[in-house]
Amino acid sequence: MIKTILIAAISVNGIIAEHVDQVSTDWTSKEDKKFFSQKTKELGIMIVGRKTFETFGQALPGRTMVVMSRSPLHIGGVPTPRLGGRVESGGGEGAGRVVWTDLSPRDLLANLESKGYSSVALCGGSQIYSVFLREGCIDELFLTVEPVIFGKGVPLIEGAPRVNLQLIEMKPLNEQTILLHYRIKK
Ligand SMILES: NC(=O)c1ccc[n+]([C@@H]2O[C@H](COP(=O)([O-])OP(=O)(O)OC[C@H]3O[C@@H](n4cnc5c(N)ncnc54)[C@H](OP(=O)(O)O)[C@@H]3O)[C@@H](O)[C@H]2O)c1
Repeated sequence: MIKTILIAAISVNGIIAEHVDQVSTDWTSKEDKKFFSQKTKELGIMIVGRKTFETFGQALPGRTMVVMSRSPLHIGGVPTPRLGGRVESGGGEGAGRVVWTDLSPRDLLANLESKGYSSVALCGGSQIYSVFLREGCIDELFLTVEPVIFGKGVPLIEGAPRVNLQLIEMKPLNEQTILLHYRIKK
């Protein structure tokens, strides 16, 4: 089965953004940016929600980005045609690629698996993390805990049942930032 690996940077109180338009690189450490870039390039393919994609505003080099949306036509001005919910084959070499989809999490993962992918990075935001968790479609999590508390903002997960985790590894990325690697207990 294809493995889904959640990757997120969180505040100490589990917030991933102070507001929905905020790009994560506004507040994350350079070491986390490096980890995110390396890990997503290693996996070659990442899934994001339409709102998170809008904070990037473009394809990321060396990766295929599958953008989930129910209404892709709402995305004005982004020159990335919707491909009828299908995921193209191939890696994300060079310039990077963006593919839109409206498949459900399970159908999307089955589609990626049929294209030969054995793992995929799940890169948020909250709606996307939450729907995959609710549907039992996450295997592992990499959480970078940055030394900050946000008084309000977008939570990592919202509206999902309790899920138990097994800690695989805990690694400092710098003197202030910790990377936690968990497996979901099934
Ligand atoms: N700190 C981090 O590591 C991190 C990581 C990722 C994102 N973020 C932050 O999170 C914020 C965005 O999170 P968010 O939860 O508001 O939005 P999001 O999850 O990025 O995107 C939500 C959109 O995804 C589409 N969508 C949601 N569920 C879907 C489904 N089941 N099928 C198809 N499409 C679906 C919908 O797009 P349509 O409206 O087009 O239908 C929805 O509006 C941003 O501030 C971003 O910077 C932080």
